[in-house]
Amino acid sequence: MYNAFFGFTQNPFNMSPDPSFLFRSPHHEEALANLIYGVQSRKGFIVLTGEVGTGKTTMLECLRDFLNAQQIAFASLFNSRLTPAQFFELLAYDFDLRCDRASKTQVLLALNGLLIDRSNANRTTVLILDEAHNFEWDVLEEVRLLGNLENRRGKLVQIVLAGQPELDRKLEQPEYRQLKQRIALRCNLRSLTPQETVSYINARMARAGLQNQNILSPELVHEIHFRAQGIPRLINAICDNLLLTAFAMESKSATLEMLNEVAADMRLDYPGQHPFRPDPTFPDHRIRHSRLP
Ligand SMILES: Nc1ncnc2c1ncn2[C@@H]1O[C@H](COP(=O)(O)OP(=O)(O)OP(=O)(O)O)[C@@H](O)[C@H]1O
Ligand SMILES: [Mg+2]
Repeated sequence: MYNAFFGFTQNPFNMSPDPSFLFRSPHHEEALANLIYGVQSRKGFIVLTGEVGTGKTTMLECLRDFLNAQQIAFASLFNSRLTPAQFFELLAYDFDLRCDRASKTQVLLALNGLLIDRSNANRTTVLILDEAHNFEWDVLEEVRLLGNLENRRGKLVQIVLAGQPELDRKLEQPEYRQLKQRIALRCNLRSLTPQETVSYINARMARAGLQNQNILSPELVHEIHFRAQGIPRLINAICDNLLLTAFAMESKSATLEMLNEVAADMRLDYPGQHPFRPDPTFPDHRIRHSRLP
C-alpha cells in the first residue's frame, strides 16, 4: 500500500518466512550452519528452539532451499496437531511413497525401502518437523523410532525438530529421556540485540529497494527494538504499521507519536512501558527529551 510512496519495490516487512529477506544475525548464522552441518554429517536428531517469532520457520525455509539446491530429499511437516496415523499418512504423501498410505505398516515398509536405497546410493534423507513442541508423546515416540533406523553408514534419516522453548522443557521430562539422549545437535535462536535490530530493519528496507533509509531515525529504531524486545516478527509488525501510519499522514518519516499510536493499537506489552530510557549507544536523545514533562 505504502510501497510506491516510500520507494519500495516490495513490502519490506512482510510477515512470511521468506529466505530472500534473511538477515544473518550471528545466532541465525550459527543456527543455519548447525542445521546444514548436522544434516550433511548425518548426525541423526537436530533440535532448533527459540521463542515465538525469533525465526525458526525462516531458518527451516533456508535449510529447505539448501536441501533443494543439493538435491537432498526431504519431507517437512508443519501441522503438529497429528495422531500417529495422520503423521504416517502425511509422511507418505511428502516422501511420495507408493503404498497404502492409511496403513502404518505399509508406510513403514515403503519408507524403510526408500531410506535404504538412498543410503546405499550414499544420499542423505531429511525429515523436518516444525512446531515440534506441539507433538504429543505418541507421535514423538514414532519420530524417535524413525530416528533409530540405521545401517553401517549411519542414520538413515536426519530429523530436524524445531519448536518453541516448551520443546526443550518437554525433552527434560522423564518420558522423553530416550529421545533426549539421541539428540546430536542443538541450536537456539535468541532475540536480536539493539544493534542487530538496526541492521535488521535497514537490511529489510534495502532488500525491498530502499538503500540508506531515513524514514525511521536511529532513536526511533531503538525504541522499536525495546518495544519489540528484539523479536523479529514483532519488529516487522510494528514497522509495517508504522509505515502505514506515516503514509496515511503523508509523512516521509515516522515519529514517536506514531509509534505510540501503533503500540497502543497493537496492545504491545513491553517491560516498564516507561517513556525515558537513556542508552549510551544512542547519544542523541532528542525524541525522548521532547517527551519529558
Ligand atoms: N533472520 C531473519 N531474517 C529475516 N527475517 C526474519 C528473521 N528471523 C525472523 N524473521 C521474520 O520474523 C517473522 C517471524 O519469523 P518465523 O515465522 O520464522 O518465526 P518462528 O520462530 O518460526 O515463530 P513461531 O514460534 O511463532 O513459529 C517472519 O516474518 C520472518 O520473516
Ligand atoms: Mg514457526
